[in-house]
Amino acid sequence: MFFNNLREEIDATLARDPAARSRLEVALCYPGFHALLYHRLAHFLWERRWRLCGRFLSYIGRMVTGIEIHPGARIGKRLFIDHGMGVVIGETAEIGDDCTLYHGVTLGGRAPRRGEKGQKRHPTLGHGVIIGSGAQVLGPFRVGDGARIGAGSVVLSEVPDGVTMVGPGARAVPRRGQAKGLEPAFEPYGIDPDIPDPIARALNALLDEVTRLKARLAELEKQHLVATGSGNGAGEGEREARLSSQSR
Ligand SMILES: CC(C)(COP(=O)(O)OP(=O)(O)OC[C@H]1O[C@@H](n2cnc3c(N)ncnc32)[C@H](O)[C@@H]1OP(=O)(O)O)[C@@H](O)C(=O)NCCC(=O)NCCS
Repeated sequence: MFFNNLREEIDATLARDPAARSRLEVALCYPGFHALLYHRLAHFLWERRWRLCGRFLSYIGRMVTGIEIHPGARIGKRLFIDHGMGVVIGETAEIGDDCTLYHGVTLGGRAPRRGEKGQKRHPTLGHGVIIGSGAQVLGPFRVGDGARIGAGSVVLSEVPDGVTMVGPGARAVPRRGQAKGLEPAFEPYGIDPDIPDPIARALNALLDEVTRLKARLAELEKQHLVATGSGNGAGEGEREARLSSQSR
């Protein structure tokens, strides 16, 4: 059983990392795989109330791999932690089957005052969740099956099944190809190198709109001045000066 799970985890790494070439390479060179070995044993001890032993083993795992998994965390099958350095998985976190985490991911609590000892403080991931590098998922909520969290996102509330969340105040975005009814495929490095920042894009659109409105206002004022200027007998030169100062 234990060894079957290990084989499945190695195969999951081979399937999801284009850089992995053989089972031996995964077994020898993948810190995510090593962290899981430490965790399986540490969790076994933790569940049998050998709490300090479990904790100590997880600490050794952290020193060796750079991945900190609390022995109380519940992890499903075929988890793939790519690169791994800086990943933190809290005590009451739960992870479904076939999930993928990149380096720097935190499955954490939001603040000590929001959760007492022994209470659920960390997120629960459904099956097939992908969390991009550096993403922070904080709080005791569910991240639905097949959800994706973009690299660098901060997620503080429930994520429905199949939804992609991106950005520091993470929000839902439609997946590329979803409108065309295409099946979502697993794309291990699914990040576009030329991703335009969605917030910068919104600001640029607003600036364009402000410029357009300013031009329209200047045009209307010009028309108004022409209309009123002819009525009050202002000289041509004076009117021109007023028009050019208004349009500036
Ligand atoms: C979120 C992610 C999983 C892709 O999910 P997806 O559902 O396939 O989303 P898409 O690629 O179709 O992108 C949907 C929109 O979100 C934007 N987006 C995707 N990832 C983003 C991110 N991390 N930050 C900000 N915006 C992002 C895209 O630009 C796109 O916006 P647009 O439609 O306005 O162009 C992927 O972008 C990601 O972050 N992967 C993690 C990769 C990683 O950590 N690599 C480290 C390897 S060392």
